[in-house]
Amino acid sequence: MDESPDETRAPVPGLPEPVPSRGSSGEDTLELVLDFDESGLPVPVAAPDASSRPADDGQDAPAGGEDAPDRDVVALRGEDAPDSEGAARRGEGAPSRGEDSRRREDAPRRRRRDRASHRAPDAPIEVDVVVIGAGQAGLSSAHHLRANGFTAVGERGWEGADRTFVVLDDSPAPGGAWQHRWPGLTMADAHGVHELPGMPFLVADPAEPAARAVPYYFAQYEDAFDLHVQRPVRVSRVSDEAGLLRVESHSVDRPDDGVVFRARGLVNASGTWSKPFWPVYPGQAAFRGRQLHTHDYRTPQELADGHVVVVGGGTSAVQLLLALAPVTTTTWVTRRPPQWRDEAFTPEVGRAAVALVEERTRAGLPPQSIVSVTGLPLTPAYRAGIEEGVLQARPMFSRITATGVEWSAPAAADGWVDGPASVEAATILWCTGFRAALDHLAPLRLRGSGGGIAMDGTAVVADPRIQLVGYGPSASTIGANRAGREAARNLVAVLAR
Ligand SMILES: Cc1cc2nc3c(=O)[nH]c(=O)nc-3n(C[C@H](O)[C@H](O)[C@H](O)COP(=O)(O)OP(=O)(O)OC[C@H]3O[C@@H](n4cnc5c(N)ncnc54)[C@H](O)[C@@H]3O)c2cc1C
Ligand SMILES: NC(=O)c1ccc[n+]([C@@H]2O[C@H](COP(=O)([O-])OP(=O)(O)OC[C@H]3O[C@@H](n4cnc5c(N)ncnc54)[C@H](OP(=O)(O)O)[C@@H]3O)[C@@H](O)[C@H]2O)c1
Repeated sequence: MDESPDETRAPVPGLPEPVPSRGSSGEDTLELVLDFDESGLPVPVAAPDASSRPADDGQDAPAGGEDAPDRDVVALRGEDAPDSEGAARRGEGAPSRGEDSRRREDAPRRRRRDRASHRAPDAPIEVDVVVIGAGQAGLSSAHHLRANGFTAVGERGWEGADRTFVVLDDSPAPGGAWQHRWPGLTMADAHGVHELPGMPFLVADPAEPAARAVPYYFAQYEDAFDLHVQRPVRVSRVSDEAGLLRVESHSVDRPDDGVVFRARGLVNASGTWSKPFWPVYPGQAAFRGRQLHTHDYRTPQELADGHVVVVGGGTSAVQLLLALAPVTTTTWVTRRPPQWRDEAFTPEVGRAAVALVEERTRAGLPPQSIVSVTGLPLTPAYRAGIEEGVLQARPMFSRITATGVEWSAPAAADGWVDGPASVEAATILWCTGFRAALDHLAPLRLRGSGGGIAMDGTAVVADPRIQLVGYGPSASTIGANRAGREAARNLVAVLAR
């Protein structure tokens, strides 16, 4: 791996030193930008540079469609590189990003940022847009901000750039929540991970764990588009400060070293993974066995020492029940009979599900469980699980005891099965979903009387400086892509006011 200093990067005062993100595997990599010649063969050229991309990537898909780049960045592992790799290495022959930024600068803002670069150690860093989170939603947003002419903080010369953004991410490495998924969740098991705008996601081996394949792709993406993600940096608090957004952050490794950003707009893309939802049931504290949430599940073998009660009617519950079946016995409990769906999850079905969630968030209501709008598709594996009895659910238990769970009434609805009045268990596995990780936004008081945040697309109705992506209707990889584009456009309009 090339360890020479990266001249496109500039340290940001107070934040961790930038680490080149060459893929989670640590293997040497390179990126190629491919144009295609008339015969359809790929022609390697220099990798993307802010100056070579249009001010607004007009190649964005038409409404309802997807990003359809006419130029693709392809991430290759070292050994796959063609002979022309040297010429195609990122940055070679391309104008320096610093020079490019300065070409676009505007004098008053440059003076403001020049002052900022000579700021006192504790003074806020001025930036136009802060993006919180570098999962699918944050990376898509950063891509579209770049496409709209924004320069990344940390890129050489950023202090003089006309418009700037910074991406802050508290995970240890690229990959968003995907890096934390259980090892048995392979690319074949995933529902489909949509590629980020402008770079195909080539899955060579469907048996590869998603926790490896997706982070590898994200790492390539961050490098290819020079997104300069600052990590591991956690945003602890966002508040209003005289019309600007005060974003308080700190290095995860050095919690006492805070860095404050002052921004004109915010893209919140912090996902849900860090906020697993644990319901409370009578007797829960007395249970002497193990309790864990989807968030903490790793392998079936870890739970093979006894019976497992799995709570929840979503995909997590169903997939973990099937994973556990070869190593132990299970009881499945749900608070509504499982919502099996016998039709394919077509784009129309997907749009209908998104519309349902959108209706709620527009009305200021919190999003409900994902499965309540998607249902559970009756795949061959799920059909087999139902036939074998693994995917036959009982209603919620009435209470938890020291050694298991108890029911005081029989199953009272179609779709549930009956069973003994009590079950002994070594483990209760709570597959009860996630909530949006928005605690850091609490000082902005965005929640309304409906308990949720009233949204107009990605914009918070009460404060359009704040864009929520990967939230509600955009809580999927395809939705996050589209939301990133919308958020960037909205913020361009907000900043122009
Ligand atoms: C088990 C599981 C499997 C799934 N499979 C699929 C699938 O196959 N297809 C699909 O479309 N969707 C799937 N989803 C939904 C999926 O999570 C989303 O579609 C998408 O990946 C979420 O992207 P995101 O960018 O919104 O969030 P994340 O990927 O969670 O990224 C959020 C990022 O923000 C960071 N962050 C959080 N809080 C802070 C903070 N305060 N400061 C700084 N950084 C912060 C996190 O570290 C993280 O890197 C799945 C969800 C789960 C739980
Ligand atoms: N292979 C894959 O690609 C894969 C694997 C796992 C998960 N996922 C994805 O991950 C996301 C989250 O899925 P998920 O299954 O974790 O969550 P989910 O779809 O939100 O489902 C949560 C479940 O918990 C139930 N629940 C909530 N509160 C409860 C309570 N107090 N008592 C009992 N049950 C309660 C919900 O019931 P109600 O519906 O009644 O609220 C629902 O059945 C989804 O996007 C899903 O598709 C994908």
